[in-house]
Amino acid sequence: MCGIVGYVGKSEGVETLLEALSRLEYRGYDSAGVAVLNNKGLDVRKRAGKLQGLIDDLRRHPLHGTLSIGHTRWATHGEPSELNAHPHTDCTGQLAVVHNGIIENYSELKDQLLAKGHRFRSQTDTEVIVHLIEELAKHQPLERAFISALKQLRGSYALCLLSSAEPQRLFGARHGSPLIVGIGKAEAFFASDVPAILGRASSVIYLNDGDVVDLTSSGPRVMDLSGKRLRRSPKEIHWDLAAARKEGCAHFMLKEIHEQPLAIAQTLANRLSVAKHSISFDRRTQSFLNKISQQERLIIIACGTAYHAGLVGEYMLEEVAHLPVDVDLASEFRYRGPLLDARTTVVAITQSGETADTLAGIRMAKEQGASVLAICNVMGSSIAREADAVLYTHAGPEIAVASTKAYTAQLTALALISLYLAHKRQRLLGTRFRQMIEGLSALPKLIEKTLASEAEIKMVAAKYVKCRNFYFLGRRYNYPSALEGALKLKEICPLIHAEGYAAGEMKHGPISLIRMGWPVVFLAPQASVYDKIISNIEEVRARKGECIVIASEGNNTIARYAESLITIPKTEEFFSPIVAAIPLQLFAYHIAQANQCDIDQPPNLAKSVTVE
Ligand code: F6R
Repeated sequence: MCGIVGYVGKSEGVETLLEALSRLEYRGYDSAGVAVLNNKGLDVRKRAGKLQGLIDDLRRHPLHGTLSIGHTRWATHGEPSELNAHPHTDCTGQLAVVHNGIIENYSELKDQLLAKGHRFRSQTDTEVIVHLIEELAKHQPLERAFISALKQLRGSYALCLLSSAEPQRLFGARHGSPLIVGIGKAEAFFASDVPAILGRASSVIYLNDGDVVDLTSSGPRVMDLSGKRLRRSPKEIHWDLAAARKEGCAHFMLKEIHEQPLAIAQTLANRLSVAKHSISFDRRTQSFLNKISQQERLIIIACGTAYHAGLVGEYMLEEVAHLPVDVDLASEFRYRGPLLDARTTVVAITQSGETADTLAGIRMAKEQGASVLAICNVMGSSIAREADAVLYTHAGPEIAVASTKAYTAQLTALALISLYLAHKRQRLLGTRFRQMIEGLSALPKLIEKTLASEAEIKMVAAKYVKCRNFYFLGRRYNYPSALEGALKLKEICPLIHAEGYAAGEMKHGPISLIRMGWPVVFLAPQASVYDKIISNIEEVRARKGECIVIASEGNNTIARYAESLITIPKTEEFFSPIVAAIPLQLFAYHIAQANQCDIDQPPNLAKSVTVE
């Protein structure tokens, strides 16, 4: 949510910002703007709607200058409009601010500033920040005024400040919302996320909450809120620029769907040894997992797709490792008053590592004595840094709002952990353990094979392009798959209502809605619950429902139950949600594409949900 960039260097600032902002579009936004310093002072340009509108406008009427800040806004306070778009400026037009987060005490600060004669133009919480700095800078140097203003803010922020009085530097600060510093050749950046600075910065500093930065082209000076200098070591950036480009694909989502064999292989790399039939992790994670193996209880917390991964994790861990697991939506967990203590381990699953509810959940868990393991994709993210141990999924940057490769990488990470703990707890030994290791190592190839049936899946999708209601039903390991299949479809195709259900629950209500033109996608791979699913298919057919069935290849009898059949390679039930995710993603993608939906940036959605 909201993307921030700031640039200090010798290149044209606006060009640099627009490229960086376009790489942050995935975060979700509804307006965009830039501010640049030139010999006329501060020039600001903003537009409601897509970034392309701002780009077109700036091509027609360019703004020149180097020192600059830019922003994509996801509205919280005030409608998405040009007036409410960032950057916001002070009364004199000499200061400009971009902000991600929510200032909770903004109305109280606004009243005080209004009383002092400040004029406000927007309905945003952000505008108070720039007027507050303006007010405080009347009596002290800008850096001190910036820090004094930060001390008065309640809530969360990642901030960037540009002042015409300081033509060589930007100021930035982080408290509860992500902000990084990118360091390039005689240029430096602020950004919300690494993709924005790929190709320009070679190293990155992940700021901590409470960090304040004075940024010049030679790099950052990081300090705390008392002005004390802090050491922050830059980390080399490993992601390459291709990851932030579509590389010939129609959408990032499609590119990322096809990257899954690689993403899964990267999750397994250096952890799984087929030759030795063993699983290992880096020292810290492994000793953490060894501790968990003695633990009495695990609680998995996550949101959205990552929550669905957590539900699969529950089946995996309970079945093979015999560890009791609860799974909670992070937004519920943090408010339901869970009973936690040192015997509990909380496993937070998150692609971005910045999801506000998941972050609040792990903070609460730690305060109550529980230990925290993060399964996370983004290095250096808040959750990765605050957890006691991290298992990185290494899926590479996920740009499309709809999660695909991060999901299957999360499932793969959960499979690794489950098998490791099962072995450690002596629940899975000998031949069976070796078979499971081989099953895990076969996943990238199996996913490649599944992806090869895209044309077949697209043909099936084409039959249902006009339908506006779908059910997705599954059992056991593929109950979460049903939830995920429905989420994928409604998320990228907002014309459609899709619901995922445990197939056994149909009779308890939803079956009343079954009728012609309301297709039901059944997950029916080879599994312990296969016969039960067949009974559920029969029940739907008896009510004239149309069944789209996802089944294991080689199943010669299932075709007679299905209006449409999609086959996936045979695999152990334990691994089946990983394979089944592929046709569900492709089905959603092709329906959305035929309906001309904005697949990579669905309306109202943000990739990184940094407010609760
Ligand atoms: C759906 C999707 C979201 C995220 C959720 C959690 O495709 O992407 O439901 O899964 O917002 O995000 P992370 O994993 O970043 O915590």
